[in-house]
Amino acid sequence: MISWCAGILSSLLLLLAPLWAWAQQDGIFDEYRAMFGDDNPAVFVIDEGEELWFSKAGPNSTSLEGCDLGLGAGVVEGAYAQLPRYFADTDRVQDVESRLEHCMIELQGKTREEIHAKPYSLRGDLGTEMEALVAWLAEQSRGLAIAPGQAHPSERSSYELGEQLFYFRAGPHDFSCATCHGQSGKRIRLQSLPDLTAHEGAAEAYSSWPAYRISQGIVRTMGWRMRDCFRQQRMPELIMGSEAAVALQTYLAVNAAGATMAAPGLKR
Ligand code: HEC
Repeated sequence: MISWCAGILSSLLLLLAPLWAWAQQDGIFDEYRAMFGDDNPAVFVIDEGEELWFSKAGPNSTSLEGCDLGLGAGVVEGAYAQLPRYFADTDRVQDVESRLEHCMIELQGKTREEIHAKPYSLRGDLGTEMEALVAWLAEQSRGLAIAPGQAHPSERSSYELGEQLFYFRAGPHDFSCATCHGQSGKRIRLQSLPDLTAHEGAAEAYSSWPAYRISQGIVRTMGWRMRDCFRQQRMPELIMGSEAAVALQTYLAVNAAGATMAAPGLKR
């Protein structure tokens, strides 16, 4: 039922494609977004995520209700806004995806290989379990302040590593994240690029992911955004939940700290 509704909506959105090309002109996207009002197709994915959290799955036939996202086992409200954070049981700083992976392995008995086989949708897919869970969890922090952990030394090193990675120039074009996201008012073709080194740009970006990508008809997570920008930088594939993926998100979340979570966003 959920996939069916999402399918119909995606088709409708495809019909809007010509309008979409026009909407890419600056400023018009805001009007286009306003036309959607509060109707974000991500709602179907969020419902699916909630269902998945409470469903028994994996070889252990267990739900994720016992998963501790930092505020205690099973506490989902506000947990996303406080990630990435340090977890003593894994002795690692984790983002929402690496923490979910940990819970799927420990509680449900799934394997790392299974979880990593396809964490993010390809174009044309109707969404993955990871995307749905992350969308639901982020929505459970909507309206709350972004407050990633920075008290533990590992959390501070994660921020430092994220900052280093952000400015690290590499790849065939010698790009860093900062090449594209280090100044305000920059753009590539018609897409404006936020300055992610400043609070304002980081806040606007970080608070609005996960987001429904209209051009792709898929809910995308911040982890995916990191991986896709890594790809744009012509770097090797960024592994979901890896130290680098977590560090980049720590860097963005700390720069965005204090802003209000507004996910799910609606993006080009
Ligand atoms: C070659 C230029 C380029 C590089 C290098 C690049 N990005 Fe991006 N980034 C983009 C573009 C273009 C978009 C907008 C994508 C879109 O609208 O489809 C974007 C979007 C984003 C967003 C979402 C912004 C929002 O408001 O939704 C984040 C966060 C981000 N990039 C982070 C990074 C990080 C972290 C790195 C380094 C690992 C990086 N980017 C490297 C071009 C780049």
